[in-house]
Amino acid sequence: MNDKQNSIFFPDGAAPASAAENTVPETEPARQYYFMEKTRELLEQQGYTGKDALSFHVTTFGCQMNARDSEKLRGILQYVGMTESDSEECDLVLFNTCTVRENANLKVYGRLGELHGYKKKNPKMKIGICGCMMQEKSEVEKVRKSYPFVDIVFGTHNLYRFAELLYRSFAGEKHVVDVEEADPAIVENLPIERKYSFKSGVNVTYGCNNFCSYCIVPYVRGREKSREPKDILREIENLSKDGVKEIMLLGQNVNSYGKTLETPVSFAELLSDVEKIDGIERIRFMTSHPKDLSDDLIDVMAHSKKICRHIHLPLQSGSTKVLSEMNRHYTKEDYLRLCEKIRTAMPDIAITTDIMVGFPGETEEDFLETMDVVQKVQYDSAFTFIYSPREGTPAAGRDDFIPDNVVHDRFDRLLDLIHECSAAQAEKHMGEIQNVLVEEVNSHDPSLVTGHMGNNSLVHFKGSPDLIGQTVPVKLTESHDFYYFGEAVSE
Ligand code: 5AD
Ligand code: SF4
Repeated sequence: MNDKQNSIFFPDGAAPASAAENTVPETEPARQYYFMEKTRELLEQQGYTGKDALSFHVTTFGCQMNARDSEKLRGILQYVGMTESDSEECDLVLFNTCTVRENANLKVYGRLGELHGYKKKNPKMKIGICGCMMQEKSEVEKVRKSYPFVDIVFGTHNLYRFAELLYRSFAGEKHVVDVEEADPAIVENLPIERKYSFKSGVNVTYGCNNFCSYCIVPYVRGREKSREPKDILREIENLSKDGVKEIMLLGQNVNSYGKTLETPVSFAELLSDVEKIDGIERIRFMTSHPKDLSDDLIDVMAHSKKICRHIHLPLQSGSTKVLSEMNRHYTKEDYLRLCEKIRTAMPDIAITTDIMVGFPGETEEDFLETMDVVQKVQYDSAFTFIYSPREGTPAAGRDDFIPDNVVHDRFDRLLDLIHECSAAQAEKHMGEIQNVLVEEVNSHDPSLVTGHMGNNSLVHFKGSPDLIGQTVPVKLTESHDFYYFGEAVSE
């Protein structure tokens, strides 16, 4: 449960003035606004208005980028007059998919079967699939052949054209598919429906140029593109006017932000400008590639009152040999030095990470190097993954895969160590009073509310729903690895 009332947000402050043109505009976003108006008219003509409005649900798989994309999809669906449903048993379900690991794909296909059942009961129901999986030709083909009941298919590159695809579907086209390969445009100022009123993601870059040898993201999200700083800053100013207190700057590698702009800007410079925006209390960012994290960034963070004391710094492996085969461009020692530098500048910072086990050719010695980094860095928390071969990536072509039993044994040992580190880190903050931005009523115990501290730890404490969206000082009274129980303190 969260506090969000339906209220569409426009990154530029308002919809473009030309929204109701009568000829199809060729430029974006005017073209999409035209199709949103057309879809709204069409639905009205078909009687789907007021209490008879069609309902929709967007299900998000995967990362923060996808979560932000889903907010854009929801904004468009609201703009055309549809109403959001909590359930997938409704008139339009969109699956915004992830393909970073094999089991992400399997999950989607499993859930599609369930949707088919709902569609049999509600023949006017439409089903759409979009996101990273739909940038893969083989997956689009599989949907076309094995899931013919899917009405709309589009990839991440085509997301900005969703309004146009929606219109074509409601106008009667049976299978609307738009998975063009072309380099995607950055289209600004489409409507957005945020999940939370008081916090928001903000894209700073799209795509990735790093080509880590295991990773499919550069193939499905395309080349890295930075948004212009003025567009980012205007969006954040408008978010602040709309009640947002916390923003999360989003990119696959935020540290390379701005390098390819006509007038290059560094991520550290962008952060300094974001800091000046009134009303924004907390600034977060994700993800930082260790190879590009600059001293300037550490300096800006250390002197900032708003940038949260948290950095997510994917390690992937602690073995210099494996890191080189992963094409990560840093050694074990580089990584350790970087963490040391960050901790020296900000002793209270939380460092979190992503770690993979079972990369092809990983030996027990390589794995022990990973364990050694975990032990030395003492992460606050870590996402751990088992290597999953992705078709078309260099690592998937290797023939030295690690047997499942070995991988699982390493994975379990890694998890145990991470739990130990998380518990030790959490213990350090016990008894402190920390500001918690309250996000929702606790799903297990409605007498509790839940929010995050600046360092991203989760805190549950006794409180009423009217605290949602407020920053509350909370004394930490009980620690459990990566979350706390606490008590609100009156100031
Ligand atoms: N197999 C397992 N984990 C992967 N990741 C990316 N690609 C793969 C893969 N093929 C993990 C990395 C990355 C996180 C988002 O997902 O750890 O940082
Ligand atoms: Fe994938 Fe590497 Fe790019 Fe991250 S930096 S998205 S792991 S290729």
